[in-house]
Amino acid sequence: KKKIILDCDPGIDDALALMLALSSPELSICGITTVSGNVPSDLGACNALRTLNFMNRLDIPVYCGAEKPLVRDYVSAQDTHGADGLGEIGIPLVQDVPWHSAAVDFILDTLRTTTALTIVAIGPLTNIALALRRDKKAFQNLSQLVSMGGNFRSYGNCSPVAEYNYWCDPDAASEVFENLGRPIHMVGLDVTRKIVLTPNLLEYMHVLDRHTAEFIQKITRFYFDFHWKQEGIIGCVINDPLAVAYAVNPDLCHGFDAYTDIETKGICIGQSVVDSMNFWHKKPNSHVLTQTDPLAFMTMFLSRIFQKEPG
Ligand code: BDR
Ligand code: CA
Repeated sequence: KKKIILDCDPGIDDALALMLALSSPELSICGITTVSGNVPSDLGACNALRTLNFMNRLDIPVYCGAEKPLVRDYVSAQDTHGADGLGEIGIPLVQDVPWHSAAVDFILDTLRTTTALTIVAIGPLTNIALALRRDKKAFQNLSQLVSMGGNFRSYGNCSPVAEYNYWCDPDAASEVFENLGRPIHMVGLDVTRKIVLTPNLLEYMHVLDRHTAEFIQKITRFYFDFHWKQEGIIGCVINDPLAVAYAVNPDLCHGFDAYTDIETKGICIGQSVVDSMNFWHKKPNSHVLTQTDPLAFMTMFLSRIFQKEPG
């Protein structure tokens, strides 16, 4: 099994990503760490527990991490995910299981004691940057960092040029790209924009399992409304589960290696600048995913979350 830490900011699509990870037998989740992004990290930890509770997996530990970006002021995405981060529909809180603090310590301890660890980071990269600052050597045991973030040809989703996770903490993203020492698998908007949860898919989920379908329908309603009002899309783009799916099966996305840096200032703040033409003659520090197969992803997502063999 692939051992992973899911570093996240739940977040509606983060919750779906967590459900997919929990339903994937190839993965063993060492722990969940939260970072301030869509919602503050303590609320994110609360939402990770709410999702684990729904999946009956409260045995997995949750660690709360960075409260704010490294440098810039914190801007949440509660307009997209709801004030509570899970669509404002009253998913029950977990009272009897606490989350732990010190996510960065947990990441470093796990790296030190695990031979091949994959980190799937589906929020801003603040926790990872802090861990790297503290002990870069521990990252020798990292097998892979899959990061949902950035964009290459695709336009931004919170500025004309920037994707939210890198825009929220551009300094952290820049540090991680610069210092990790191995290519980051960048599952950005070029591929995730192709993953749209549509009303007919939601309807079909009810045929597969009403209980799970209702949970997904409830938490995504706010997200549906946001996409309709903001982008004129019927359905919602679910970014984060594709990063988990890619960690399970790298054949789901294809791309190229390149040197990437993240802009930390000015009107392009948060933009991932991908040197696809090798102008800078720098060693590639990213594997930029640009192609995916949405139908293959959806088949995987539904069959796993609803525990059905397709075909
Ligand atoms: C990313 O930003 C967040 O709103 C989502 O959870 C996802 O991780 C997409 O830009
Ligand atoms: Ca996220």
